Amino acid sequence: EKGGWDSFMDKEIHEDPAAVQRTLLGRFDKNGDVALDEVRIDEHDFKAIDKIIVIACGTAAYAGMVAKYAIEHWVRIPVEIELAHEFRYRDPILTPRTLVVAISQSGETMDTLMALRHAREQGSKVLAICNTQGASIPRESDAVLYTHAGPEVAVASTKAFVAQITAAYLLGLYLAQVKGAMFRDEIRHILDSLKNMPRKIQWMLDTQTKTIHQAAERMLNAQSFLFLGRHVGYPVALEGALKLKEIAYTFTEGFAAGELKHGPIALVDEGEPVVFIVPPERGRNVLHAKVLSGIEEVKARGAFIIAVAEEGDKDVERYADVVFWRPACPTLMSPLVDVVPLQLFAMDMAKLKGYDVDKPRNLAKSVTVE
Ligand code: F6R
Repeated sequence: EKGGWDSFMDKEIHEDPAAVQRTLLGRFDKNGDVALDEVRIDEHDFKAIDKIIVIACGTAAYAGMVAKYAIEHWVRIPVEIELAHEFRYRDPILTPRTLVVAISQSGETMDTLMALRHAREQGSKVLAICNTQGASIPRESDAVLYTHAGPEVAVASTKAFVAQITAAYLLGLYLAQVKGAMFRDEIRHILDSLKNMPRKIQWMLDTQTKTIHQAAERMLNAQSFLFLGRHVGYPVALEGALKLKEIAYTFTEGFAAGELKHGPIALVDEGEPVVFIVPPERGRNVLHAKVLSGIEEVKARGAFIIAVAEEGDKDVERYADVVFWRPACPTLMSPLVDVVPLQLFAMDMAKLKGYDVDKPRNLAKSVTVE
C-alpha cells in the first residue's frame, strides 16, 4: 500500500505532481475555459460575489492564504482568511454576496464544520474545497470543488496542500472569467502556467532530493529554525515551519520576512538556521531584492542560510549555505513547487531523528473535536 516507499509521507510527497495534475483534470471546456460544472452555484449568483472569506485550519488555512494573493490580484475582490475556530466565535460581517470557502482535506474537521454552519445560518453561500468525497463539510456546503489528491494517510498534510492551492486557483480564475475581471487571453496564459506546474514539481523531486537530505543531516542538532518569506512565500514559510514542528518536534517559527527588523532578528545568533523562500522573477519582482536584503542581514549575524530560490539565482548563491533550486515559474505559481523541498526536509529530519513520520505524537489525521 505504500507502493515501495518506506512511509506514507514519502509516497504522498512524491504524489504532489499527480495531485495538481488530477485536480486540474476535467475542469476545462472544449474552448479551454475553466468549467466547474460540479459547482452548483448559478452564474448569476457567482457574478454577484463581492467578497470571499476562507475558513480553514492548519495547512488548509495556509493554502487559503496563498490563494488570497492570487485571487485578489486576478478578480479584484477582497479575500479574507480566517482560522475556522476564530471565525466561529465572533460576529463576522457576511452578506448574501459573500462567498465563504471552507478548505479541508478530511472534510471532517469540527472547527471548520462549525464555522461553515455559522456562515450558512447568516445567509452566506459556502463552497467547500475538499479531498474526501461525501464527508460532512462538502455535504453541508452549497457547492463543492473536490481536490483529487487521492487519499492522504500520513497525518502531516502534503499533497493535499498543493491540490488545495490548485483548486482555489481554478475557483479564482473561474470567478475572473464569469465576472469579466480579466481578458480571456490573460486567463489562458495563467492556466498554461498552472498546467506546467506538475512537471516543475517533478523536476524538483528528481533533482533536489539529495541536497535536501544532506541539508537535513547537517541540521540534525539544530534546536530551532526560522522560516521567512514574503507575498506568497509567506504562507509557504508558515507551512514549512508547521511541517517541521509536527513531525520533527523542532521549535520553528515562520513569519513574513518584512517583520525581521520589527523584532524577530533579535533571535538570530551565530549558527541559527534560517530558511528563506526567495521569490522568482529576479530583476522584475521588487520583492526579490527585499528578501535578499533580509538574507544579508541575518548572514551578517552569523546565521546558517537555507534558501529556496530560482535556478541560476546568482545573488542567492553568494549568500546561502544551502540552496534548494526551483525551476523558473511565475511568482504566483511558485508555492506549488516551493513547499515540496520543505516537506521533504521536515520528513528527512524526522526520519534521521528516528521518529515515525506518518504518525506524529499527539496528532490525529482528522480533528473531529472542537
Ligand atoms: C498539518 C495538518 C493539519 C491540518 C488541519 C486541517 O500537516 O495536517 O494542520 O491541515 O488539521 O485539516 P483538514 O484539512 O482535514 O480540515
